[in-house]
Amino acid sequence: MLEKINKLLAEVDAFKASSLEHTEEYRIKWLSKKGEISALFDDFKNVSSDLKKEVGQKLNLLKNKAQDKINTFKESFEDHKGSTENKTDLSLPGYPSLQTGSRHPLSLVKNQIIDIFSRIGFTVSDGNEIEDDWHNFTALNTPENHPARDMQDTFYVKLDPEMVLRTQTSSVQVHIMEHQKPPIRTISPGRVYRNEAISARAHCQFHQVEGLYIDEKVSFADLKQTLLYFSKEMFGADTKIRLRPSYFPFTEPSAEMDISCTICKGKGCNVCKYTGWVEILGCGMVDPQVLINCGIDEQKYKGFAFGMGIERITMLKYQIKDLRLFFENDVRFLKQFTSA
Ligand code: DAH
Repeated sequence: MLEKINKLLAEVDAFKASSLEHTEEYRIKWLSKKGEISALFDDFKNVSSDLKKEVGQKLNLLKNKAQDKINTFKESFEDHKGSTENKTDLSLPGYPSLQTGSRHPLSLVKNQIIDIFSRIGFTVSDGNEIEDDWHNFTALNTPENHPARDMQDTFYVKLDPEMVLRTQTSSVQVHIMEHQKPPIRTISPGRVYRNEAISARAHCQFHQVEGLYIDEKVSFADLKQTLLYFSKEMFGADTKIRLRPSYFPFTEPSAEMDISCTICKGKGCNVCKYTGWVEILGCGMVDPQVLINCGIDEQKYKGFAFGMGIERITMLKYQIKDLRLFFENDVRFLKQFTSA
């Protein structure tokens, strides 16, 4: 019996487990109910009484050593397992679990327009998207049955045909002139609506910025210089402008303004349809009748106004070819503006 115990003691001392399964294999071999050490305990009753003390001590030593060894290996393997499965590996590089948002390109450009005009003293004014006929049309020299109403397809409010979804931010001009005394120098960015079929070039909703300057000695030269300043700030110092005579019911004279094509620098490309110029806004001297309609002394005051589409400016600036992208909120489109 002593011989067997010594042999097992040597085996326990020499034992090195290679895995959790290997450790378990030896626990069963030595310590389970039918294991070798348990069997020795069963045989212990047959040991003669003079040897009982010595054999008993050795047997206990063997059992304890075997138990310690098994426990030590078991713990070490379980710890290791835990570190790969459950614990955070601090050596891995971090990555943000939240994606950074980005500003909508229309907001970026709107803010830039506000910034450019505020540097030359223009304030920002807000208006209503649901507007009455007077502010959207009549006060702006476009009474009912005036052919110019056909320039814009209007959404009327069903319950009250006097109310419309504003077709232009020019309506804000009227509110401002009705409530403020000149000098007035303000821009009004906002959303407008027109009953148009949705395509790459048209939408039933879009955004405009209206500009209005009313004072005693405002001239067409002031208008031109203001718009030249804006164009250079927005599209680059080498940008040129040209004004073409046009018609708007609320300005006289009226003009449309082109800038030299930002893509080909005026040489001709498909964006400018090989003309070297792209149209970006309408403008003119405020018609004296509009001043009268809004309660401003038309003998004393003059003014200029302009209106531009924010989508148009944004499309030119970022070379975006389809207007619908602005309203679909596809993250793949929007996240391209993260760093802008
Ligand atoms: N309201 C015009 C439109 O939507 C744009 C416009 C043209 C605004 C000339 C103006 C202006 O203030 O003077 O087409």
